[in-house]
Amino acid sequence: MKFFLDTANIDHIKQIYELGLLDGVTTNPSLIAKTGKPFKVVFQEICNLVKGPVSLEVVSTESAKMIEEAHKLVEFGSNVVVKIPMTLEGLKAVKILAEEGIKTNVTLCFSPLQALMAAKAKATYISPFIGRLDDYAHDGMELVREIKTIYDNYGFETEIIVASIRHPLHILDAALLGADIATVPFDVFNKISLHPLTEKGLDQFLQDWKKVPAEKA
Ligand code: E4P
Repeated sequence: MKFFLDTANIDHIKQIYELGLLDGVTTNPSLIAKTGKPFKVVFQEICNLVKGPVSLEVVSTESAKMIEEAHKLVEFGSNVVVKIPMTLEGLKAVKILAEEGIKTNVTLCFSPLQALMAAKAKATYISPFIGRLDDYAHDGMELVREIKTIYDNYGFETEIIVASIRHPLHILDAALLGADIATVPFDVFNKISLHPLTEKGLDQFLQDWKKVPAEKA
């Protein structure tokens, strides 16, 4: 499973990038707003740093305008994926952009049929928002399971980006279901590798190592 970072914070991207485990980045208008910087500056910084796919979102709601925006967004780098909302206007834009060879990430997906439509429109990625479904007592991971079944049934090539992740268990479940990608917030990313027994065990090993006699000269 690929790991994307769900952020527009360049310092956070740098930190995770240095681990060598970062496959891409997803942003959205709310994440860009949080940086307090002009969007063009943020887009360029991220695209220059990250080698993998970087999702940058359109803010138009009408297909022709989305396509216009997409053409500007791809100028930030050859790794840009244009993020398009899951609306009929959005799907129209996705279809045309696919024909032009521009990659898309259909965002704000909350139902398996939306995911089916996005795949039929030839979206490169679909982003089911699982945490936001969990917030309303709907099982977000069930949506991922259904999308995976539909895509496997028909051999769709659209990749599933599990989005709106809230905690490491979401990542585990996504991996067990065979989702292609998890896009992970910075704070959750930092928890993925932690286990108290690892820390405790290492501490014990290092303490015990001090009891090993030094080799005699
Ligand atoms: C995905 O591409 C979105 O940017 C993101 O995962 C939304 O997550 P949220 O529900 O935490 O805002």
